[in-house]
Amino acid sequence: MHFGASWYPEHWPESRWPRDLALMKRAHFTVVRMGEFAWSTMEPADGRFEFGWLDRAVALCEQAGIDVVLGTPTAAPPAWLTSAHPETLAVGEDGRTAIHGNRCHYRPLSPVYLRYCRRIALEMAKRYGRKKCVIGWQIDNEFNHQSHDEDTRRQFQDWLKVKYRTLARLNDRWSGAYWSEDYQDWRQIVIPTAWGHNPGLRLEWQRFHTTTYRLFQKVQIDAIRRHADRRQWITTNLMGWFPLFDHYQVSRDLDLASWDSYWPTGTPDPVEDALPHDLTRGFKRRNFWLIETQPSSVNWAEINTMHEPGRIRLRNWQAVAHGADAVLYWQWRNALGGQEQLHGSLVGQDGEPRPCFDELAGLGAEFRKAAPHLKGTTTAAEVALVNCYDSRWAVGFQRHHKDYDWVRHFREHYAPFFNRQVGVEVLSSLVAPDRHKLVVAPALWLLHETTAKNLAGFVERGGHLVLTTRTGAKDAENALFPALPPGPLAALAGVAVEDVYPQTAPVEVTGRFKGRAKIWVERLRVAKGTEVLARFGAGCDWVKGRAAVTRRRSGRGSVTTLAGWFEPPLLDAVLADVMKAAGVRPRFSGPPGVEFSVRTDGRGREVVIVMNHSEKAVRLRPVPGRALLAARPRGPWTLAARDVEVFA
Ligand code: GAL
Repeated sequence: MHFGASWYPEHWPESRWPRDLALMKRAHFTVVRMGEFAWSTMEPADGRFEFGWLDRAVALCEQAGIDVVLGTPTAAPPAWLTSAHPETLAVGEDGRTAIHGNRCHYRPLSPVYLRYCRRIALEMAKRYGRKKCVIGWQIDNEFNHQSHDEDTRRQFQDWLKVKYRTLARLNDRWSGAYWSEDYQDWRQIVIPTAWGHNPGLRLEWQRFHTTTYRLFQKVQIDAIRRHADRRQWITTNLMGWFPLFDHYQVSRDLDLASWDSYWPTGTPDPVEDALPHDLTRGFKRRNFWLIETQPSSVNWAEINTMHEPGRIRLRNWQAVAHGADAVLYWQWRNALGGQEQLHGSLVGQDGEPRPCFDELAGLGAEFRKAAPHLKGTTTAAEVALVNCYDSRWAVGFQRHHKDYDWVRHFREHYAPFFNRQVGVEVLSSLVAPDRHKLVVAPALWLLHETTAKNLAGFVERGGHLVLTTRTGAKDAENALFPALPPGPLAALAGVAVEDVYPQTAPVEVTGRFKGRAKIWVERLRVAKGTEVLARFGAGCDWVKGRAAVTRRRSGRGSVTTLAGWFEPPLLDAVLADVMKAAGVRPRFSGPPGVEFSVRTDGRGREVVIVMNHSEKAVRLRPVPGRALLAARPRGPWTLAARDVEVFA
């Protein structure tokens, strides 16, 4: 377990640094993150490097027994670079070139920019690649830009050429004859605008960002690896559900997945908070770092709520419960100037601890206590939810109902497991489910052959699969299959979708499960041998009396198809039924707002983390193990509002 913050010594006189380190020790810090954004201090003029200050800051950390993660500063190019090379600045969709003074406003594919990035990464690695207290590297900061410049466009065209080989093939796959959208020359291909372009083209442009950022980070990874000890890991800080690129692919070249989690408003939503942790754990199917999170408020929300005492501790424990092996705050101390002077920090403008400090220092002490127990463990999960970027993007381009938000759909199918204390792994759609009993594939609109094969294999081996609306309508190039959905999964599911019906009002569901579907229902043709478990009632005459939930058994496994986006109580009932069929048994139950999460080493050693997200104290049944954080009675016990206990 690591605990720390982003520290920007370059904002302060060196005479101040020892005091910072002493306060960090008081907060039980084990690590600081430094360097990202400090390009102009490391290289004040083209090719003139000044690392003396960083050497001394790193040395102070080493003396204090605090490890260091170094960020490459490439998210914040210095003014000498952007003014000498304006061609490194990103061009927006509106054709305007970015101006200096922001972050990530570079062209990620600019050869000139990449040359400078490589050089600064190399210089840093030469200097710190063997430094004992430097344990890892962070490339750049929150990749988030795309550029619409002509050079990027040419690279996109070249990339398409490699992928499609012939224009005839590309034109065919994108239905080019439609609206005369076919191309006679690769150089005619445009960068699509967010509105109104060909779905095939839009999907490829989106996918191109994955290639872009893999390439962008690879330049720096290679530079660091030339000089760094193997024990130093490399990550980049991701942003949970951020949609720009496929996070599974970008994580491939990294040693560790890490992400930045912020809660702009004060309203807690434990489900919404938990899911991106599970998502990030899935990027490398390993524990991750929460490499940035707020110690109190942010500065960029409409209302920058200061969270109530105990909330940050609780949420940070939740991250650990879902697989975080480190929690780092952003930031240690707010600079007196700059865009983020009002952001939350542990130390204030006077250099002294802010009111949140003691809560967080207490958490540092708790992590220290729990660390030996958590070592070698990860979040237990018998259930997987399949995440497919292509489907998400494709639905995003063509929602067909303004409220068909793919991530929300995903989250609503995650919630029943969360609410029943059942651990979930979020699995890439290109990875075969292995250790799972139950797999839910929400809105798998775009179905790759590999995914269809993996899911069929899972069911053959006795797995229980749940399919939802919009599944299997499209192929890998975002064209409709010339067959009814769920296309390649139709035989396995034993249904075919005759048509879809976006709704303005709920549609009733009756039968073994009763409740309502909202915004979306589908009309199923049911094959012989497929059971109908529930039917649609009033609300949409096209589907009235027709199947709303079906199940097809296949060996020891089954496929359950949901022909509507169900309201939460109905969805909960259906998924509880599938859990039963799949032999997924919740081990804990508690009042609403209480979360139980198990981390296991896979060999019987377990840590149970119990979190009370509610504003009321709760009485709970005994949990196996010894309470690590507070003295607890042997029998039934009370967990205060916003409190946490850890049993090992
Ligand atoms: C993150 C960013 C940090 C800081 C923080 C403020 O997105 O990586 O550098 O700006 O937001 O909340």
